[in-house]
Amino acid sequence: MGFFDDFPKFYKTSQTSPFPDRLNSRHIAIIERNADLIRGKRVLDIASHDGRWSFAALQAGAAHVTGIEPRQELIDNAINTFSEYGIETSRYEFLCGDVFDHLSNKKFDVVFCLGFYYHTIRHAELFDLIERTGAKLVIIDTEVTPIVDELPDVVNSDPRLVYENPYGVQLLLDKVDDQQMACVDSLTRNGQTIVGRPSRNAVKFIAKHFGYTTETFNWNEYTSLNPEVKSTMHDYSEGWRDTFYCSK
Ligand SMILES: C[S@@+](CC[C@H](N)C(=O)[O-])C[C@H]1O[C@@H](n2cnc3c(N)ncnc32)[C@H](O)[C@@H]1O
Repeated sequence: MGFFDDFPKFYKTSQTSPFPDRLNSRHIAIIERNADLIRGKRVLDIASHDGRWSFAALQAGAAHVTGIEPRQELIDNAINTFSEYGIETSRYEFLCGDVFDHLSNKKFDVVFCLGFYYHTIRHAELFDLIERTGAKLVIIDTEVTPIVDELPDVVNSDPRLVYENPYGVQLLLDKVDDQQMACVDSLTRNGQTIVGRPSRNAVKFIAKHFGYTTETFNWNEYTSLNPEVKSTMHDYSEGWRDTFYCSK
């Protein structure tokens, strides 16, 4: 039994990978591993979707959660689910819109950036806004460039390295009418906007710039020990998605 098996509404309120094995495995990496750091804290959930991680944070004892999500129908799903599972309305709020329009002058202890860091090209700007919230823990769960394509990190590297620079970002297009992708923004043309899939080293590089040290979940070990989950977790098991814990 995993966490979401007790709250099966979340298997129905989204079309974005609502698979039990996947959600429950992600819960272990995102919530269980950090339960002591979430309990009693104010949490920001960027790209809160159908409220799955906001809900899980509250169940882990978070004092309050703020979700930011541009798709109103997903916020409506979240509010319905929270109501059905008896969560007090004073413990959460959902803001409808683009995260870049909602973060000024807000304070949080913990920030979730789950399934979103590869749906923006504004990686450094987003981390800047997150750091200004005062968060001590930032959990980023994101697609990354595959391990085979990555150059090793450079210790004490020249900050303006030209050759063998390992801090790459792949440029991609997101369809803005797809529920799981970027929303319409000023970069959108013909229904698509420019986003970037960062390398692991790019995530760590940006976090370090803003004063955070980064660890990652060992998805290789987890999926080897739990091979039954692999069918819904190719991105993690094949090394092109990772979960980062950035702390200060
Ligand atoms: C892949 S889903 C991730 C859902 C959930 N956070 C998770 O990890 O399971 C991406 C979400 O980002 C939201 N999103 C897209 N552009 C956004 C933006 N500019 N600001 C906030 N959320 C955004 C989408 O509407 C969608 O709900």
